Amino acid sequence: MSDAAQNTHANPIPELQERAARLDAEDGLGKLRERFTLPDGVVYLDGNSLGALPAGVPGAVADVVHRQWGELLIRSWDESGWWTAPQRIGDRIAPLIGAAPGQVTVGDSTSVNLFKALVGAARLAAPGRTRMLVDATTFPTDGYIAASAARMTGLELVPVDPSDALGALGDDTAVVLLNHVDYRTGRLHDLPGLTAAAHAAGALIVWDLCHSAGALPVGLDAHSVDLAVGCTYKYLNGGPGSPAYIYVAERHQGAFDSPLPGWNGHAEPFAMTPDYVPAEGPARMRVGTPDILSMLALESALDAWEGVDVEAVRAKSLALTDFFLECVAAYVPQGRVEPVTPAEHDRRGSQVSLRAEGAREVMAELISRGVVGDFRAPDVLRFGFTPLYVGFADVERAARTLGHIFG
Ligand SMILES: Cc1ncc(COP(=O)(O)O)c(C=O)c1O
Repeated sequence: MSDAAQNTHANPIPELQERAARLDAEDGLGKLRERFTLPDGVVYLDGNSLGALPAGVPGAVADVVHRQWGELLIRSWDESGWWTAPQRIGDRIAPLIGAAPGQVTVGDSTSVNLFKALVGAARLAAPGRTRMLVDATTFPTDGYIAASAARMTGLELVPVDPSDALGALGDDTAVVLLNHVDYRTGRLHDLPGLTAAAHAAGALIVWDLCHSAGALPVGLDAHSVDLAVGCTYKYLNGGPGSPAYIYVAERHQGAFDSPLPGWNGHAEPFAMTPDYVPAEGPARMRVGTPDILSMLALESALDAWEGVDVEAVRAKSLALTDFFLECVAAYVPQGRVEPVTPAEHDRRGSQVSLRAEGAREVMAELISRGVVGDFRAPDVLRFGFTPLYVGFADVERAARTLGHIFG
């Protein structure tokens, strides 16, 4: 990058712009952008926080409101498939996270599903085990919920850095909770290796997939994961506050004892019996009445995945983040930003985080110039790359704009 070393004022570097154009022209996923409605002139690199609007969602939501609710009224619980939506939509998410049908239930928030998963896992754990290991660097809600779940189930909460998790596992470990991709640094953790290690220690493992589902292959069944949770408003583009999901491997479902045994998870919800009898299969992860408007917006949003191969998404995601790191090195004067996302592909999710002085102000300036990422305290600029709608020219423009700000 000899051009790069000389480029202290973020003038366009023709070689990078030409390469971006070539990469976009060759991009087999490039056409997928048409499945989204994005504002003109905006480079949207915040799909790891709130995914963009899939083009079919407004019409689908209008139909749910006007026809299904407005005209069919209560008949829609059966006739419009409202009642079966949590399982039906779970089965549409399943292939994106490497799960066979019948193991994913949609509903509630990630936080609530974490609670169900952690208490449920503690109740499944072998007797006599006393500790719950939790990713110490995790998104805060995971830590808060884990602390309460541990207290309720009589386990000792042990926060560990994921890189020390292997050493912390022992024959006293009941449950492990880890993030597949760290929300702040974008670091990808070794799901196959850590799952195998937890099992070798006789523990159950719960994975939080919020920052990996829809961005890279997860392989829940292939790696014999026990339980997992994730949100749908990031790389799955379900919309603000769209319902989350919980995966409980089929082998655990019969013994899964939900800490929130609501009437929707009952074997015969309409029998209205005083005693709780859990439904067979994934329906026992349900709690109360599903949030139909959000849930059916999510169902429509998942149409954007029709015919999309998650392996191809991963390949493009790595190409985008590689190119962004290269463009940042070329456009941003040396020493102004420091990548905190690992350079190695097998340790990188679909985001790039850059540490920078004045990161909050820098991000505000970037946004005012049409490049939308986000800021995470205390000093991190976060850029998420959603391969379904982000292209290589977007990447070049984002890095060049960052260079202008620092120039
Ligand atoms: C890793 C992780 N877990 C959990 C959550 C919070 O989920 P919810 O607000 O759906 O409960 C988030 C939100 O961004 C997250 O990034």
